[in-house]
Amino acid sequence: MSAPRGQFSSKLGFILAAAGSAVGLGNIWGFPTQTASNGGGAFVVVYFVLAFMLAYPALMAELIIGRHARANVVTALGSISSSRFTRLAGTAVGYYGVVIASLILSFYTIVAGWMLAHLIEPLTTALGLSNISAWLTQNSVARNLATAATFALITMWIIARGIENGIEKWSTRLMPMLFAILLLLIIYVMTRPGAMEGLAVYLVPDWSRVTDPGLIIDALGQAFFSLSLGVGTMLVYGSYLSKRENLPGIGVIVTLVDTGIAFIAGLLIIPSIYVAKHYGTTIFTETGELIAGPDLIFQVLPTLFSSMGEIGLVAAFAFFTLMSIAAVTSSISMLEVPVSTAVEQTGLSRPRITYVIGTVIFAISALLIFNFPALFVFVIDLTTKYSEPLLGVAFCLFAGWVLHRDKLLAELKQGSPEVESGIFWKVWPLYVRVVCPVLILVTFFHSVGA
Ligand code: PFF
Repeated sequence: MSAPRGQFSSKLGFILAAAGSAVGLGNIWGFPTQTASNGGGAFVVVYFVLAFMLAYPALMAELIIGRHARANVVTALGSISSSRFTRLAGTAVGYYGVVIASLILSFYTIVAGWMLAHLIEPLTTALGLSNISAWLTQNSVARNLATAATFALITMWIIARGIENGIEKWSTRLMPMLFAILLLLIIYVMTRPGAMEGLAVYLVPDWSRVTDPGLIIDALGQAFFSLSLGVGTMLVYGSYLSKRENLPGIGVIVTLVDTGIAFIAGLLIIPSIYVAKHYGTTIFTETGELIAGPDLIFQVLPTLFSSMGEIGLVAAFAFFTLMSIAAVTSSISMLEVPVSTAVEQTGLSRPRITYVIGTVIFAISALLIFNFPALFVFVIDLTTKYSEPLLGVAFCLFAGWVLHRDKLLAELKQGSPEVESGIFWKVWPLYVRVVCPVLILVTFFHSVGA
């Protein structure tokens, strides 16, 4: 219980770590493809509105509870409660969050392994090792196990080093790289034929879709997943943040970086798809929809890269480096949820606990790999579609109803003394108590019933 707690050493370190958690495969792959298949700019507009009106207040709920309780998600939710019932409920919600974070990591690790495979492939191709290249790019149990294990080890290695030397150091190194690679790739793709057609599909809004319930549900789910909400990740990161920092301001920056990078990623992915079309690749499914699933990343884009000759190898390497970086900074934040809980509850050493928990989660990944058709999509739906929104509601209710108003205000005033007279304090408590839970639940039941 009394293990010393780590802390982020600077505001920038925290912002890059939280943005690193938020910016992941969901931004670079999920957001652009959802936009293209949901009415282009109309989806972008709805997404931005929901991200700031619903996801941002929920993000603040997690950050505030975390920084106030200075503990892992289980202890934090239990300790802010004053009655026996809410204490039990908080502990249960906390454990549920730990399980869901671990399950998300188990499938994320598999997808990230695919990214690593495609990252190494241009190197083996350049070296003339065509057998290895073929092995890396063809789907097989052995390939999936090997690349997922490699990725899991990288994640464990970073988390074992702790907050400042692990999470903060690597997020601070990797996030600027991610941004630079993204910009360079966009500049390159924009000069290719077909890019402008893609840009139009991405940006020209089909306003008739704005009120489409399906679009709104997709946008809300995307906003929550993208900001890593509902599983305690942001709560735990918040618990390592100094009391000197201004929480509402930091929350706005993290939301802006996350939505901004999702938007910028769209400027890369959608035009790339249309460049591929220009070079003769099929980009629509038989039913006329844009190919958006794994085929997009592992077939359409690689075909495009290979049609570009030598430079295609560099582009492929850069693109899959970008995807791998995005995946690493997100996966470390997921592993931190169970690790911080176990370290603080058992008092055992962080490295040992990290490798034990990391191995258990990798065993779940292996189970998914062996039973791919039956389990893979099931676990994704169970975690992202059903559990994350409900847990998000629980975090809002705990921040809004269980954490006493005086304590809430006191916590917010640390680092931002003027908050009491500002707009945030006037609007946010109502939002987090009523508006967010109701809207999340309405959207949830709509999507589950749909
Ligand atoms: N935000 C990440 C993405 O957009 O890919 C995914 C994610 C990270 C979800 C961390 C949940 C989490 F705890």
